[in-house]
Amino acid sequence: LDPKIAPYSTDDPTSFAYPTARERWPIIITQAIDDVYRTVGASEDADKVAEGKEILADLSQLKYEVQHDRALTPILDDGYPDVAGYNKELEQLGNITWLKAPWLFTECYLFRRMSTHFSLSKHWKSYDVFARQKIKTFRSSRPAVLELAARYKDLVTQLRTPAPPSSSSSSPHDPEADRLLFTEMCEVCLWGNATDLSLLTSLTYDDIQKLQGSKARQAAEQNILVNDLAHVYAHLTQAAKEGNYSKRDRRVDIVLDNAGFELFVDLVLAGYLLSAGLATTVVLHPKSIPWFVSDVLPSDFGALLTALADPRWFYETPTEEDELQGRVPDKLTDKEVDELAFLFAEWSRFHAEGQLVLRPNRVWTGPGGFWRLPAEEKGLVDDLREGELVVFKGDLNYRKLVGDVAWDPTTPFTEAIGPLGPGSGLNILALRTCKADVVVGLKPGVDEKLRQMEGGGGDSGARRWAWNGKWAVVSFSKGT
Ligand code: F6P
Ligand code: MG
Repeated sequence: LDPKIAPYSTDDPTSFAYPTARERWPIIITQAIDDVYRTVGASEDADKVAEGKEILADLSQLKYEVQHDRALTPILDDGYPDVAGYNKELEQLGNITWLKAPWLFTECYLFRRMSTHFSLSKHWKSYDVFARQKIKTFRSSRPAVLELAARYKDLVTQLRTPAPPSSSSSSPHDPEADRLLFTEMCEVCLWGNATDLSLLTSLTYDDIQKLQGSKARQAAEQNILVNDLAHVYAHLTQAAKEGNYSKRDRRVDIVLDNAGFELFVDLVLAGYLLSAGLATTVVLHPKSIPWFVSDVLPSDFGALLTALADPRWFYETPTEEDELQGRVPDKLTDKEVDELAFLFAEWSRFHAEGQLVLRPNRVWTGPGGFWRLPAEEKGLVDDLREGELVVFKGDLNYRKLVGDVAWDPTTPFTEAIGPLGPGSGLNILALRTCKADVVVGLKPGVDEKLRQMEGGGGDSGARRWAWNGKWAVVSFSKGT
C-alpha cells in the first residue's frame, strides 16, 4: 500500500531525520518532562503527584532509549484501537532501533508512545503536555493576530456590502479582485504553518514575528515553489455555480496541523470561505492525542476561542515570565478589542450554526502514510469524497500524503499521492511549508538551484533548503 521507494531514515546523515532523532527528539522529551514537573509542583493532590512522578520516570526512560539507540518496544495497550496497528507495523519492521529506523513511522511512534504514559494513568488521562507551550507561543504572535483581525473584519464587511445599484453585472464583485482575495487568504493560511513549535527548538520569537506579518507574506510569495491556487479557485467557483442547481451543500475539509497562530489563520481561511460563499460548511479535523508538539487538539480550539472571547484578559494579564522580567504587557486599543470581538462573534456563530464543525478521528495520528487510507479507512474516505475539497495543512500531513519517501523532486504531485490522486474522487490541496526532505512537483533544475544557495545543502547530498519552513509548496490534485 505504500510507495515502492525507500523511506527517509534516521541513520541517513544527509536526511533531516538524522539531527531530528539525535537533537530535536531529546529536546522535545525534555520539554515534556519540564512541563510535567511544573504541574506536579503545583498540584496538591497526593495521588496525582505520585502518578506524575511515575510519568516523569517513564519519560526519562524514553529519552534514554532514544539517545542510546535502544529498540522500539511495543506500545502498551491503553484501550485505543490504534495500538494494534502500531504494534503490527513495528513487528513487520523487525527489531528497529531509534537511530536506524524509518523516520515517519518512528516519529509517529514517539508521540503515540508518549501519550500512553498519560492515557494509562488515572489523573493525567487527558493531560496535554504541550498545552503550555502552545498557548504561550500563540500569545507571542499578538502583532500578527491583531493585523489579521483588522484585515478580516474589513474584508468580511466588504463582502457583505451589496453592489451599487448602477452596477450592471450580476456579480457585485470584481472577479479578479475576488481571485486575489482568495489567494491572499490561502497564503495567509499557508505561512501560518511556518512557525510550528516542533521547529521552535531552533527559532526565536523574533524570528516568528518576522515570519507572520503581511510584508513578510508578500516577500515570501516568491518562495512558493509550486502554486496551484488558481486551479483551486476555479474548482471552487465552478462548484459554487453548479451548487445553485444541484448540490446545496458544498463542504471544505481542513486536516489541521498546528494550534495557536496556525489554527487562527485556518479559521481566517474557513471564515472567509464561508463568508465568500465558496463553501457552505467547513469541517476541521484535529488530532486526538498530543502530536508533534504543537498540533491542534479539540481543547486548543476551545482555548483559542476563550482567548478571543476576552482578549484584554488574555493579552493584558502578565504571565509568570512577564512578572519575572518586570514586564507589563501593552494594553489593547478599543479598536483592536473590537476587531477581535468581531472575529469571535463570526466564528462562534458559524460554529453554533453548524457551518464550522470539529471532527476528530484517530486516523490522523496513525503510524503510516495516507496512501493506505482508501484501503484501510473506507468510511472516512467516502465521507471526504462528499466534500468539494480536502485541505491538508503542514509538513507532516504532506509527508504522509506522499509517503515520506525519497521521490525525485520533479515527480508530479498527482503521482506522488498514489491512490489519493486523480480517479480517487478526492480533491486535495496541500498547503505546506517545507520542514523535511521530501518534496515533489518541482520544475527540473529547481532543487539543484536551491541546493546551491547559501545554506541550501550544496554538494553534501542533503536537501537542506527544505528543512526550515522558508520555502513552500501549494499543490492541488483533482479527483476526477
Ligand atoms: O522539523 C521536522 C518536523 O518535526 C517534521 O518531523 C514534521 O514533519 C514537522 O516538523 C512538523 O511540522 P508541521 O507542524 O508543519 O507538520
Ligand atoms: Mg504540526
